[in-house]
Amino acid sequence: MKKKFLVIGNPIEHSLSPKLHNYWIEKNNLEASYDKKLLEEYEIQKLILDLREEKIHGLNVTVPFKKTIIPFLDILSDEARNSQSVNTIYKDKDKIIGDNTDIEGFKTGLETTNYVVKDKVALILGAGGVVPSIIIALNKMQISQVYLSNRTESKALELKNFFPEIEVVGWGKIVNFDIIINATSIGLNENDKININYKNISQNKFFYDVIYNPKETHFLKKAKEFGAQVENGKMMFIYQAQRAFFKWHNILPVIDDETSNLLDI
Ligand code: ATR
Repeated sequence: MKKKFLVIGNPIEHSLSPKLHNYWIEKNNLEASYDKKLLEEYEIQKLILDLREEKIHGLNVTVPFKKTIIPFLDILSDEARNSQSVNTIYKDKDKIIGDNTDIEGFKTGLETTNYVVKDKVALILGAGGVVPSIIIALNKMQISQVYLSNRTESKALELKNFFPEIEVVGWGKIVNFDIIINATSIGLNENDKININYKNISQNKFFYDVIYNPKETHFLKKAKEFGAQVENGKMMFIYQAQRAFFKWHNILPVIDDETSNLLDI
């Protein structure tokens, strides 16, 4: 029987998960399909029922459901519990499991750049759904300090309740950092700009943008112009997908140039 997988979110139109997973499904000759589904919150319960009844075999979850889906699940992995964020769901021994592969995705993606995070200082911009995963990954990589800045400061302070080791700084304030991570949605539209003084802060620094489409946001473009090493979120995206694929199919798919080129649209 053909197994059915879905990525759910709202919006979902631009998700590249189906392209990547279907490519790996074909490469590995699996009898499966992977589609995207635009979801409203009230539909979550029915979808989890479909999983229980094995009409669906796995879900990826994206904005805005990574946290709101948690009460519908039976068991959370340590990563999902610690981040309060679920991006991968499957059934195991009659239980619906919520897992988080964003943490490993971010960590492995950053490791492929050969940038050494240990003992560095990070400044994260944003406090949305993906940020707890980034904080946990940075801690695993032995970051020495994480600063966090968000337009809505109350959301940053909520994160500090969860991760007391971070320091919250006001929106627009740039502290001294080694690596700066854009985890806001600014840059998704080509005209969006984060207005900071790139000229003064880019030299010998590492600028990371979680966004990978567009390939080079204004944030990365300006930082590169003034001497920073830059990286977008493409490898993070590929590695979180690879780990999800492994949970579902027990196969770790190969990531090569062809895989990476698939996502250059
Ligand atoms: P969610 O909050 O639902 O998880 P997200 O896309 O993961 O959504 O997060 C969006 C992030 O981008 C938030 O940190 C948001 O800041 P607020 O908490 O103040 O909303 C940030 N963001 C989006 N547009 C922004 C803008 N124009 N200026 C500053 N921050 C912005």
